[in-house]
Amino acid sequence: MRTRPLGPGAPAVSAIGLGAMPLSISGRPPESQAVSVIQAALDAGMTLVDTADVYCLDDRDIGHNERLIAKALASWAGERDSIVVATKGGMTRPGGRWEEDGRPQHLKAACERSLKALSVERIDLYQFHAPDRAVPFTDSVGAIAELQHEGKVRWVGLSNVTVGEIRTAQAIVDVVTVQNRLSPFHREALETGVVKYCSDNGLAFLAYSPVGGGRLNKKLPDHPALPPIAAAHAASPHAVVLAWVLAQGPTVIPIPGARTVEHAVDSAGAADLVLSEEELAIISAAEFWS
Ligand SMILES: NC(=O)c1ccc[n+]([C@@H]2O[C@H](COP(=O)([O-])OP(=O)(O)OC[C@H]3O[C@@H](n4cnc5c(N)ncnc54)[C@H](OP(=O)(O)O)[C@@H]3O)[C@@H](O)[C@H]2O)c1
Repeated sequence: MRTRPLGPGAPAVSAIGLGAMPLSISGRPPESQAVSVIQAALDAGMTLVDTADVYCLDDRDIGHNERLIAKALASWAGERDSIVVATKGGMTRPGGRWEEDGRPQHLKAACERSLKALSVERIDLYQFHAPDRAVPFTDSVGAIAELQHEGKVRWVGLSNVTVGEIRTAQAIVDVVTVQNRLSPFHREALETGVVKYCSDNGLAFLAYSPVGGGRLNKKLPDHPALPPIAAAHAASPHAVVLAWVLAQGPTVIPIPGARTVEHAVDSAGAADLVLSEEELAIISAAEFWS
């Protein structure tokens, strides 16, 4: 499988990683199936798994996705050290809602919980999940920098940020990755320059919801632009979209979710799918209504 650098000082990882969120939120599959999905993604060559403490049902279930990944890795036949697990802190799930909490004391406690849930002494990649408008951004990033100085976190990433926020964070800590939304339905990361800033500065851009998310991805097979391209490559419409996302910048790494082995393996295969300039232009010019 093609690889891409995870960022300055970090190793190369598979050009497409697994987004593990759908394995732990509402509609999640049975645990045995979820473990099979993670292991199938790794067997297919993915070496990056994205998670978060809040990928769960609600605050009573925090760490569900991290514990699941730890369990899948513990019984996986491959080499654990070849896999980068990226988690996040900075949100909560009261009553199942998604709320930001960027207070330094929350981030410190969340990191301790994630270390336990992942069964590791140091988190590979710790991402600040989303700026909290009630807390100065520099205070939140400062807390994550302290976690790195304490040896609890190897590399630092940001999520749901602007170019201005990336620059602000870089004055405080070495940033290796930025995780924002990017799909043909949602192109704001291209329009606001975040993808370009990442490629210009060697930061990996982890494209979340790359096939549109849990609802919109179901529209892809019916989109008129995709079936001819999919047929030409003997690929699925989802794989074609992942190849388009990959082509949006040299440091873009899509992290599609999956609840079935079939979908995870199909997405892994998209890492080696290269579309022609003409095919890319057709998808770029097409309307994808949400
Ligand atoms: N940083 C953030 O704020 C943030 C926000 C959202 C997501 N994320 C991360 O990004 C990851 C991906 O985002 P997402 O899960 O929202 O959306 P997504 O990856 O765009 O779509 C998820 C759904 O699309 C279907 N799918 C994916 N690849 C497929 C394929 N090759 N063939 C057929 N169906 C396919 C899967 O359906 P099935 O479930 O039926 O297999 C999957 O659940 C998450 O898992 C999470 O790690 C981060």
